[in-house]
Amino acid sequence: MTSGQTALSDAARLSVAPMMDWTDRHCRHLHRLLSRRTLLYTEMVTAPAVIHGDRERLLGFGDTEHPVALQLGGSDPAELREAARIGAEFGYDEINLNCGCPSDRVQSGAFGAVLMTRPDLVAECCAEMIAVSPVEVTVKCRIGVDEQEPETVLPHFLETVAAAGVRRFTIHARKAWLQGLSPKENRDIPPLDYDLVARMKRAFPHLHLSVNGGVGSLDEAEPFLKAGLDGVMIGRAAYHAPADVLCEADRRIWGDPGTSRAEAAVRDMLPYIEAHLSAGGRLHQVTRHMLGLFAGRPGARGWRRVLSEGASRPGAGPELVIEALGRVEDLQQAA
Ligand SMILES: Cc1cc2nc3c(=O)[nH]c(=O)nc-3n(C[C@H](O)[C@H](O)[C@H](O)COP(=O)(O)O)c2cc1C
Repeated sequence: MTSGQTALSDAARLSVAPMMDWTDRHCRHLHRLLSRRTLLYTEMVTAPAVIHGDRERLLGFGDTEHPVALQLGGSDPAELREAARIGAEFGYDEINLNCGCPSDRVQSGAFGAVLMTRPDLVAECCAEMIAVSPVEVTVKCRIGVDEQEPETVLPHFLETVAAAGVRRFTIHARKAWLQGLSPKENRDIPPLDYDLVARMKRAFPHLHLSVNGGVGSLDEAEPFLKAGLDGVMIGRAAYHAPADVLCEADRRIWGDPGTSRAEAAVRDMLPYIEAHLSAGGRLHQVTRHMLGLFAGRPGARGWRRVLSEGASRPGAGPELVIEALGRVEDLQQAA
């Protein structure tokens, strides 16, 4: 393993999941202010978009975001090879292939979760990506799809793809139903099977396996690590309550001293927001990812209301964020 891979394997002890429309660069900047160590993922970008699209818009990211992984969608080995090359050249620390997303759009392109039925093709895609990527190529998958039997499908999938040179996988511990369930239902309805993921770790001790799906907090994440899994990926909880999940992550997961604070992160976001506005951006593009920062704490409602009502107004700027923070701090002092 290269030293870069070792560092990434360590960062992957905790990661924030790739989430379309959510984990854009503004969101990742915020998450990085809350945790220096957690591995962050982009939204999925399809290989054809990487090759033919507006690269700066689709792939651009800030120096502050490392360690950060680019998630690709696709199933054409040559396209994925080119997209991986471009992604690595852009400076991403890892290239991840999406084999777990069940949305219609993704199915029509024959990639995402449907690739659980095509392990040989996934292996071929990964081999092509690995051949050109100086950074690690990883896979995010499900435990199976539709009528597949996860007990047999998942080990076969891992073995086949690992033979192509992939050694780090994130497993969303539920099946995807490609017909009949919406993408949202596919994140909740198929039952979670964490035991199967734990058994995969015992069967493939040389692979780095992270579990994903339904993990709501660090309290829920830590037992997986203690039980021997290599990493935990958190999606919705990290988005909706980022401070709850990330402020203590560096101390609890990596043993670093100190914790971050949501209030400090808000202040640290101000120069970033100013730069975004100066470049022609809108306030709500950044603040929409900040709405959950005080979730469950006094002032959370006022914080959300000020930002969600005001941030889309023309000319809205950092003073609105300062006003919203003032509501939180007033209530906290009174409490
Ligand atoms: C809004 C949203 C968008 C998502 N987009 C992606 C995506 O682009 N790629 C992917 O692999 N998974 C995607 N997912 C699935 C998450 O990465 C994750 O596997 C799932 O939410 C389960 O984890 P959680 O229970 O911690 O949220 C998305 C989930 C959500 C909620």
